[in-house]
Amino acid sequence: MRVIKVGTSEEMGAVAAQIIAERMRAKPHFVLGLATGGTPETTYAELARLHAEAALDFSTTITFNLDEYVALPIEHPESYRSFMNTRLFDKVNINKANTHVPDGNAEDVDAHCLEYELWIEDVGGIDLQVLGIGHNGHIGFAEPGSSLASRTSKVKLTQGTREANARFFENDINKVPTHAISMGIGTILEAETLLMLAGKGKADAIAAALEGPVTAKCPASALQLHPDVICVLCEGAGDKLTLEYQP
Ligand code: PGA
Repeated sequence: MRVIKVGTSEEMGAVAAQIIAERMRAKPHFVLGLATGGTPETTYAELARLHAEAALDFSTTITFNLDEYVALPIEHPESYRSFMNTRLFDKVNINKANTHVPDGNAEDVDAHCLEYELWIEDVGGIDLQVLGIGHNGHIGFAEPGSSLASRTSKVKLTQGTREANARFFENDINKVPTHAISMGIGTILEAETLLMLAGKGKADAIAAALEGPVTAKCPASALQLHPDVICVLCEGAGDKLTLEYQP
């Protein structure tokens, strides 16, 4: 487990983007797992800058997002497809056909979840998966209680997650979708490298994830089972860690 502590969210974005860019440059057809939410925004801004100013090439990059809301129109500004288009895909030379976000409006959601897993398998798996963490320790939308072996599936969002995300929906929890499609913990653990990003307010969740028991009560604690995890922590997110880690 590597833990890199930095000050600001911008510094976190610079460090994370550098790690991603180095790997992308070393491997054509890089398969990049992406996360949404407030935390990775500075990373995507920095990747877009590296594309514009340092020739970072996305032309052969393949992406898979962790999750998407169910039954939110894809053109809704808060759909994760819209998020990815505006924060990253529209700013770089990626082929949109190579970008995958679960389809929360699929007619047969279960069949789509299975298909999503097969798409990941077909390209040889995810090389690096970007992750955020919920206050309750969720990764993607794999909420507490998800099996540590779970696969991509339709999940019910917890009240706490919907409250946390109400800020993206005019502070009205009733506008936050109740369900999502999310990669499972088992799916996430299969990525070759996990890049966990966390900032303000996540110190307790990060301490539980890295130093608490491995338990379905804290999905991110499953990271302790993975051999290649890099955490980039800003704004005090690492303040409650007690062990010494390699940076
Ligand atoms: P945030 O969400 O980046 O908006 O804090 C992270 C998460 O809930 O996984």
